[in-house]
Amino acid sequence: DTQLKPTLESVAEQLKEGKFKNVIFMVGAGISTSAGIPDFRTPGTGLYSNLQRLNLPYPEAVFDISYLRRNPLAFYTLASELYPGKFEPTDFHKFMRTVDRKGLLRRLYTQNIDTLERIAGVSGEKIIEAHGSFAKNHCIDCKTEMSNEELKRIVWESNPGKTTIPKCKKCRGIVKPDIVFFGEGLPRAFFDSMDEDFPESADLVIVAGTSLTVSPFSQLPEMVDDDCIRILFNMDAVGDLGTRDNDLLILGDCDKNVRKFAELCGWSLDEESEEET
Ligand code: OAD
Repeated sequence: DTQLKPTLESVAEQLKEGKFKNVIFMVGAGISTSAGIPDFRTPGTGLYSNLQRLNLPYPEAVFDISYLRRNPLAFYTLASELYPGKFEPTDFHKFMRTVDRKGLLRRLYTQNIDTLERIAGVSGEKIIEAHGSFAKNHCIDCKTEMSNEELKRIVWESNPGKTTIPKCKKCRGIVKPDIVFFGEGLPRAFFDSMDEDFPESADLVIVAGTSLTVSPFSQLPEMVDDDCIRILFNMDAVGDLGTRDNDLLILGDCDKNVRKFAELCGWSLDEESEEET
């Protein structure tokens, strides 16, 4: 039956039977839009079509390291809206947590900086935050760390109603959260895990909520072995997903579709995040 084209039903059946023990997720901003966080590239609602007020030379400049040196206010204006703390995990995050709880998760590669994977309760050591996160902050010149409390105090509280740029106490360089900007390298853990995981470690790959436009993350799905089933939960087809016999495209809202997938597996997504099973 390995010759048959996978369907949501057949993959759910195999997941239930314990056929897949090494599930790898590759996700992006689309899994967090239902939490109220805009994605980047959806026309109209995406961040990059709503940054006119920041007067950027081009939208991606807001996450560009050399632009940050010249105009840090643009990033910090946006950061006040994106800063974690006010968003809740989505059904898609809950699905990933469930896969982890069942002992089937090998790795979760995320491009997102909202830390909703951690907040949902996915094991920290399985998460690769490929584009970093707001968890820590460092001076872009001398790398001295600044705590989140201090950064928040300086940026938003020191000068009410105004955004203040946090500067390094040692060298006066600009302090920035450890988000990977254009012009910076990805974390070492990304490349180490990639070497361990591909091509053959995964038995099921689930790609979701990403346009697969930013390299090197965009190359992950292609590195997966040909025998491995790859499912895409996304609004539209992306990357090379759909070009292999073992690909399954589930187009539309990823929360709605993953809920259906979980039901087919006989799994409930609504357990508390603290609960151990
Ligand atoms: P994009 O905005 O490029 O792509 C989001 C994808 O998710 C699009 O294909 C949407 O159609 C899809 N999508 C949105 N809502 C969805 C929903 N409810 N259900 C299913 N699909 C949905 O976001 P990313 O691919 O994550 O990098 O962007 C990659 C990187 O570009 C980001 O990490 C960021 C950005 O520049 C940095 O800032 C370094």
